[in-house]
Amino acid sequence: MADNIYPIYDMMMTREDKEHLLRQRGMMVWFTGLSGSGKSTIAMGVERELHARGILCRILDGDNIRAGINSNLGFSQEDRRENIRRIAEIGKLFVHTGIVTLACFVSPTNEVRELARGIIGEEDFREVYVSTSIEECERRDVKGLYARARRGEVKDFTGISAPFEVPMHPTLVIDAGNLSLQECVSRVTDMILG
Ligand code: ADX
Repeated sequence: MADNIYPIYDMMMTREDKEHLLRQRGMMVWFTGLSGSGKSTIAMGVERELHARGILCRILDGDNIRAGINSNLGFSQEDRRENIRRIAEIGKLFVHTGIVTLACFVSPTNEVRELARGIIGEEDFREVYVSTSIEECERRDVKGLYARARRGEVKDFTGISAPFEVPMHPTLVIDAGNLSLQECVSRVTDMILG
């Protein structure tokens, strides 16, 4: 590693400087749950709610990550791990800029969620498990992927032909199949503000 990084790093404005400027504290809110469980929809509602209160947020989800920086990754175990590792590293940059960062990824195993937690750091990490049942996700099938997975057209599909492990210590569990969107948004917003 280049040994000239550290003196330059010392001269950078700090996280505290940025949080002072923004008058808020950076935090990673990590949404995990099946495809179609409502992670991104809830995060968008939370972002609107917090934005209206003057809090700067950034959503990271498949649209801006898997379409861009992670466009070379698929859904094998190794690729999912690398997907989550990069997202956590990028997310950490946002958190250290004082931004409330909302990451919406299936992140199907305890291993990848713990990887993300370790990169971000316990202090800044909140895990929201969107626990909508597979039956409900499949009934909605917003993207038509469950039907395709059942026909064997999508391999390693989470919940059908690849595992989803229920999180062991989530900060919050939200069953979006049994709560209104507004209720889901309020619970996450309260957790962030509380
Ligand atoms: S993760 O497992 O690596 O965390 P990620 O959240 O980035 O997954 O991407 C999941 C999204 O990709 C799903 O919401 C779905 O739209 C799409 N997708 C395509 N193929 C698969 C698959 N085999 N398993 C899960 N999701 C898939």
